[in-house]
Amino acid sequence: MHTEAGPKRPTTPVQKGLQAIPLIINVISANFQLNQFSSLTLLEFALDSSVLLLVGGNRGRCVWATPMNNIIAYLFKSSLGKKYIMAVTGCCLFLFVIGHMVGNLQVFLGPEAINRYGHFLQSNPELIWPARIGLLVFVGLHFWSAMQITLENRAARPVAYANSKPVAASYASRTMVMGGLIVVSFIIYHLLHFTFQCKAINLTGQDFVGFTDPNNHHDIFKMIVVGFNQPLVAGFYLLSMGLLCLHLSHGLSSMFQSLGWKNDAYRPIIDCGAKVVATVIFIGYSSIPVAILVFKFGKEALK
Ligand code: HEM
Repeated sequence: MHTEAGPKRPTTPVQKGLQAIPLIINVISANFQLNQFSSLTLLEFALDSSVLLLVGGNRGRCVWATPMNNIIAYLFKSSLGKKYIMAVTGCCLFLFVIGHMVGNLQVFLGPEAINRYGHFLQSNPELIWPARIGLLVFVGLHFWSAMQITLENRAARPVAYANSKPVAASYASRTMVMGGLIVVSFIIYHLLHFTFQCKAINLTGQDFVGFTDPNNHHDIFKMIVVGFNQPLVAGFYLLSMGLLCLHLSHGLSSMFQSLGWKNDAYRPIIDCGAKVVATVIFIGYSSIPVAILVFKFGKEALK
């Protein structure tokens, strides 16, 4: 008698539904050009989270489904959710970096333009305070998710590989945590330097608080020129911009990966695009201290 049991046929509606998931995932991945995992994520969000939340699966295999009625809790608890938090907050911080660079480049238009811009921001607290609070929250969440993911990865592989020589990982990818911490240290210094205008750390002996222009606005132009005429400070900014852009070059391409927008066809374009954007940002920001320190831009403000 033949006793070997064949694959069990689905009997209940729930079993039938679960068996259909691989097919649905294949349809999504074919139509949206996504990989299987991203398709599963998309499906997961599309389903009513209070009814069913899928927590795994690859290549069309559904691992398990668990009920959960709070998508926020899912975001903060699962590895995938933390990756989303890191990607979305990173994207917002990236937009700030672009906006801030464009604002700062107005220094090349002369004192009037950048001082007017600074005065506009300072005199609109309803714009600046939500932006400041948002930035703080994004930095906090970005940092928290990065730490959580790093700790989870370490816990998953407690013993380092015997041959830990990095083969494919780029320098930027291997230094994400350290690079991120240095960027945070730079931001703290930068806030003390230009936002709080703390005299003790600008190394020029001058008090930026007293700089005012003929319109009685804060003279941001003079503050930047005097600030970057100090070689140690300008050098520290250049180093930090370099690390920021290294961090961005890897972070940007990881963001596409985490959001499921990276597949084999787009991967080289995204990776190359991220490097180009990071280089443009580096040139944009660095042009200011370099122009001031090396090419003596704005030297009339020193008198
Ligand atoms: C050459 C490079 C840079 C220059 C000249 C510059 C200039 C300035 C100035 C003048 C302010 C003070 C604005 C004010 O309070 O009136 C400021 C604030 C700030 N900068 Fe920069 N910045 C540079 C690079 C960066 C970078 C790379 C970052 C981030 C990674 C950054 C983040 C910030 C933040 C968070 C603030 C505080 C904004 C606020 O709350 O008012 N800056 N920057």
